[in-house]
Amino acid sequence: MATPPELTQIRDSGHHPVLMGEHALAHLDQWLAGPGNGAPLFILCDETTADLCLPELMAAVPRLRHAHPMQVRSGEHSKDLEVCRALWTHLADRHADRAAVLVNLGGGVVTDLGGFTAATYKRGIRFIHVPTTLMGMVDAAIGGKTGIDLHGVKNLVGAFADPVATYLHPPFLRTLGKRELLNGVAEMVKHGLVLDAPHWNDVRRAALHDLGALAPLIFRSAGLKMEVVARDHRDHGPRKLLNFGHTIGHALEAFALESPQRSLLHGEAVAIGMVCATWLSWRMELLERDRMNAIEEHILGLFPAFRFLQTDEHRILELMRNDKKNAGGDFRFTLLTGIGEARVDVPVNAAQVAEALEHYRLLIRDAEQRQPPRP
Ligand SMILES: NC(=O)c1ccc[n+]([C@@H]2O[C@H](COP(=O)([O-])OP(=O)(O)OC[C@H]3O[C@@H](n4cnc5c(N)ncnc54)[C@H](O)[C@@H]3O)[C@@H](O)[C@H]2O)c1
Ligand SMILES: [Zn+2]
Repeated sequence: MATPPELTQIRDSGHHPVLMGEHALAHLDQWLAGPGNGAPLFILCDETTADLCLPELMAAVPRLRHAHPMQVRSGEHSKDLEVCRALWTHLADRHADRAAVLVNLGGGVVTDLGGFTAATYKRGIRFIHVPTTLMGMVDAAIGGKTGIDLHGVKNLVGAFADPVATYLHPPFLRTLGKRELLNGVAEMVKHGLVLDAPHWNDVRRAALHDLGALAPLIFRSAGLKMEVVARDHRDHGPRKLLNFGHTIGHALEAFALESPQRSLLHGEAVAIGMVCATWLSWRMELLERDRMNAIEEHILGLFPAFRFLQTDEHRILELMRNDKKNAGGDFRFTLLTGIGEARVDVPVNAAQVAEALEHYRLLIRDAEQRQPPRP
């Protein structure tokens, strides 16, 4: 993909480029005049991004004006087979052929769903990701994993399929709420902890509400994810580094879904998972105690506490065993061997996981007891 000189572009992983910087969207317009010229164009949004992001995209990419709009409801429930069927039907009704291009404008739900729809329609049409959430920019829209949920199991059906390119335009984040922003920050913290100590320090010190300060960190995080994907596109080895915090995090997400009064975003669950995995790293004598303390302090300061009872730990462990990635005896964890370095596939037994959960539970209880009583 030819790139104008003023454009900042991070390395192409060999699978798909990620373009970022002030002129990234202008480049998309140029692409539509070149390799994308004359292709039937479709844009997928959710209700929110149709309202908040589409006008800005149209202004920056005038060649998209002729695109057919497609819209789904906002939220995880749109990663669903029936929604996918409606999108395939829409494409067929409008005679989308193999040359068609689908632009996915939204968070991880839109890029996962749109990517999967495009990857399977006529055995695959081209698609472009324009992520609009922080989670999308640093994680979901990079690396070629697409998919939908089935029977309440996340990402049960999916495909590896790469976008033509992913375009990062941080100004879209202006309208994103604080909770959704922090959701993405959790993955940035993870990137720093497992791959890049200076990045961990930068993210730790950044004024997260300041988009000018956040943008270069977004680009760094996206670059770190690309580097890992370049080494391991199909998730067999190094990509497991990105599982840090996710082994327990996924079970906590599932646990929160079981009780309607609780709510836990993916990043919030991963943040707790990272606290537990950091403690396990120390427990296994892989990580020094002062480093563990610094990580815990930062994460607990950033994310809301999630309360559960000691008796819930049994259920959380059960949910971990149900996870397809945890089949067999011991669990396999990605643990820290320092800040900015990690080891994959460390065996951890159920008793140790329970201890790690108990450690988190006591940490938040102690933190709450230290708080002055509310008036
Ligand atoms: N494919 C991958 O590698 C990968 C990686 C991480 C996450 N994911 C998937 O991504 C999904 C989560 O992504 P997400 O957190 O972006 O969720 P999301 O797409 O549901 O977006 C979160 C909310 O923000 C709204 N929104 C989007 N852009 C906005 C903007 N600019 N301003 C205001 N509101 C906006 C959305 O409408 C939605 O309500 C999950 O389904 C997860 O499985 C995939
Ligand atoms: Zn994640």
